[in-house]
Amino acid sequence: MSKRILVVYYSQSGQLENVLTAMLHPLILADTVEVTMLPLRPTEDFVFPWSFWKFFDAFPESVYCDALPNVPFELIDSESFDLIIIGYQPWFLSPSLPISAFMKSDQAKVILKNKPVVTVIACRNMWIEAQKTMKELLLSCEARLIDNVVLSDQSGPLESFITTPRWMLTGKRESFWGLSAAGISDDVIQKSSRFGEAILSGLISNKEVENTPMLTGLGAVCVDPRFIASEKIGKRSFRIWGKLIRLFGKRGSWSRRPVLGIYVLFLITLIVSVVPLNMALQSIIRRLFKGKIDKIIQSIEAPSGK
Ligand SMILES: Cc1cc2nc3c(=O)[nH]c(=O)nc-3n(C[C@H](O)[C@H](O)[C@H](O)COP(=O)(O)O)c2cc1C
Repeated sequence: MSKRILVVYYSQSGQLENVLTAMLHPLILADTVEVTMLPLRPTEDFVFPWSFWKFFDAFPESVYCDALPNVPFELIDSESFDLIIIGYQPWFLSPSLPISAFMKSDQAKVILKNKPVVTVIACRNMWIEAQKTMKELLLSCEARLIDNVVLSDQSGPLESFITTPRWMLTGKRESFWGLSAAGISDDVIQKSSRFGEAILSGLISNKEVENTPMLTGLGAVCVDPRFIASEKIGKRSFRIWGKLIRLFGKRGSWSRRPVLGIYVLFLITLIVSVVPLNMALQSIIRRLFKGKIDKIIQSIEAPSGK
């Protein structure tokens, strides 16, 4: 009997969709598997490329996972999927709003209850805190996370603070001023078919039933330890600022623009000062507390690991 996979995802520029297409290719070709694609459609218009204000105005609600419901969808036998793949991107160190809307919906609670889940993240490079939130959301749906795949942008950590916002705000991805092109490289995207192959053989040997990861040893997740503390500090400050900004009005309202403007200045200062300083400090701390940090890395990389 063939196994049913549901792939729930949202992609603005099409990058995450390309990742999923490459990854799922071996599964789509297999006659022992039936793949159902479920692209989420938000009810609000997230226009790409973003305007400056709309981009930053999305931050308080992203951090608090406070999203408007998506366009309703219908699924045949929504409770009978053998495996669910959730493809998402972090927005401001949190799952993007359309994904949060899905995870908090009543439908998600039905679809995900007691089901094995593989999360697939395609992002700039800061996903650790978003996955922490995703784990909590999965838990609230009584789902079982069995694997995680993370693909990050090809630009270096500091480079991507320029290339990714440029891509998001202008739609321009190509390299400029000697910096790498924004986004994940085509080569990395194409090579993600290895995850689909491993999922296929995992399904054949019923690994999803046994709660066993299928993607170990394939380089599914690789934590850059320099981001662990930066993300923690960033998320904490996002929560404080997000709460404050939300006191000034709803998303899209003019009343929150002045405080949002102050926040953007604060964020830029944070990026050019604290982030590089913290990254340098991290390499010293890593040398001093190698054993402890390795354990933290392993727990973040679980269940799939490197
Ligand atoms: C509003 C917004 C916030 C973002 N915040 C993050 C982030 O915190 N960490 C990160 O690695 N990437 C971040 N990104 C980049 C996305 O994760 C993703 O790489 C990009 O949006 C392309 O995904 P797509 O498939 O939806 O087009 C952000 C993008 C947007 C639009």
